Amino acid sequence: MRRTRSGPSIREFLHYYVLVLLAEHSRTRRELIEEIRQRSIGNRSYRSSGVLWVASAEMDNVLSNLLDRGFVELDSRRGKWAITWHGRRARRRMERENQSEADTKERAADKILSLVEDTPCSSYILDVGTGQGYLAFKLAHEGFRVLGIDSCSLQYSKDSIEKAQEQARPEGGNVEFRQADIRHFDQPDDTFDYIVSSQAMHCMENQRESLKAIYRLLKAGGRFFCIDYLVGSKGFLAHGFHCLLASSREEWTEMLVEYGFSNIRMYELDDYLLVEAEKQ
Ligand SMILES: C[S@@+](CC[C@H](N)C(=O)[O-])C[C@H]1O[C@@H](n2cnc3c(N)ncnc32)[C@H](O)[C@@H]1O
Repeated sequence: MRRTRSGPSIREFLHYYVLVLLAEHSRTRRELIEEIRQRSIGNRSYRSSGVLWVASAEMDNVLSNLLDRGFVELDSRRGKWAITWHGRRARRRMERENQSEADTKERAADKILSLVEDTPCSSYILDVGTGQGYLAFKLAHEGFRVLGIDSCSLQYSKDSIEKAQEQARPEGGNVEFRQADIRHFDQPDDTFDYIVSSQAMHCMENQRESLKAIYRLLKAGGRFFCIDYLVGSKGFLAHGFHCLLASSREEWTEMLVEYGFSNIRMYELDDYLLVEAEKQ
């Protein structure tokens, strides 16, 4: 099913990217939407529904805003939009202002460590979409008991769990890895004190089902921490169309509330977003 995307984060991305497309040559509104769809087609290799369809109303809104600011102009006879001199300068300015600092994923991971630092080390933590154990090892080194799971379902992730297990051997007991898809993970309800995930939600085939499973597996009062790409101009400048596989702040809030999470907090760390939510 085709899902169009809208909301402030998508608009923020469009304010930048429409200027990029119009700097190449003038285009109609329909051509702009189609070009974005075409350029995001590579996202399909990560998630079959990952192609970006921008809602037409959102494109109208952005074009009219750019027009008011003198960044674009409309040739109404041909229905074509073109970038102005001011628009070209504005695009360069956005690029300068939205440059990300290096190592923001590391900073996001450090933020998770700081948010769990005052909890007992007997806490049991699940790392979903662990890959080769990026977060799992960091948490285990803090003294927590950690289980990392990964579906190993992507081309590059086929042997992730095997590699993580190899690395875990010399560590001794408190970090363990298993191959499993979170949606079908065979564990009792209310098992984990925390569930964490880094850069994995965006490539999950059915994010809603995954979130539902995460909620089920958390203990009451347990918290979910998720690092993923920031949807908007910073995320786009650092990761291109790949960042648009992730959920925007608004989409996150809608999904988390739908599945019963509360105390939702979000931290923007340049091109990454850290989401925190609690099971009631
Ligand atoms: C980009 S990697 C991130 C790995 C690691 N967390 C990191 O930050 O380096 C995303 C991982 O999510 C895994 N994944 C995708 N869908 C999943 C699912 N439904 N359940 C568990 N893991 C999944 C993929 O196999 C892949 O290894």
